[in-house]
Amino acid sequence: MVERERPLFIPVILGTVRRGRMSLPVATLMAAELARRPGIETELIDIAGLPLRVDDAGEATKDPGFAASMNRADALVVVSPEYNHGYSGMLKHVLDSCLAEYIHKAVGIVGVSAGSFGGTRGIENLLPVLRELGLVTIFWDVNFSSVQTVFDGSGTLLDQSYLRRIEKFLNELVWMARTLRHGREHVALE
Ligand SMILES: Cc1cc2nc3c(=O)[nH]c(=O)nc-3n(C[C@H](O)[C@H](O)[C@H](O)COP(=O)(O)O)c2cc1C
Repeated sequence: MVERERPLFIPVILGTVRRGRMSLPVATLMAAELARRPGIETELIDIAGLPLRVDDAGEATKDPGFAASMNRADALVVVSPEYNHGYSGMLKHVLDSCLAEYIHKAVGIVGVSAGSFGGTRGIENLLPVLRELGLVTIFWDVNFSSVQTVFDGSGTLLDQSYLRRIEKFLNELVWMARTLRHGREHVALE
């Protein structure tokens, strides 16, 4: 019970810097759904707002604020738009800036696409990257297909059926976050 009383910190990473990005209302919705859960703290990390260095790669580009959020995180929600059947290059650049901060923490992916596949092709490509970073992926995703029809111009969700899917996804992510936090704090690595 003591474990449950300590809030989990689960930030949402908005994985694109594109002007006019539809991943923004998706990430805002995910953060709102996390924030209304008891025992969860969250923040929306907009990679467009990070002081991204693009003259180097990997941990040499580490931003102290982003690294501190990753260090504090128990789990991540990554909002990943599909670009040419892959993930956003800028998302990869930001993720590559940390490593130890991610180890044995949970991650769930929310795919976003204009087409009908809900970002699944980008998700499939992102999964091995997240694994290599030491994150533990859950077996649920959320897929926003034809995303331009899912929100109105002010970012309000038009299709309420997404809420049930998000609930199942977050239930699984929170379970994995709790389980892994217990493991990090109580189970020795042989
Ligand atoms: C460079 C680029 C490539 C894209 N490739 C795809 C694609 O392969 N499949 C698809 O369904 N949509 C594709 N899109 C559309 C995005 O999925 C769409 O803009 C969606 O809203 C998510 O991205 P956003 O957050 O930048 O808006 C592409 C968009 C860009 C900018």
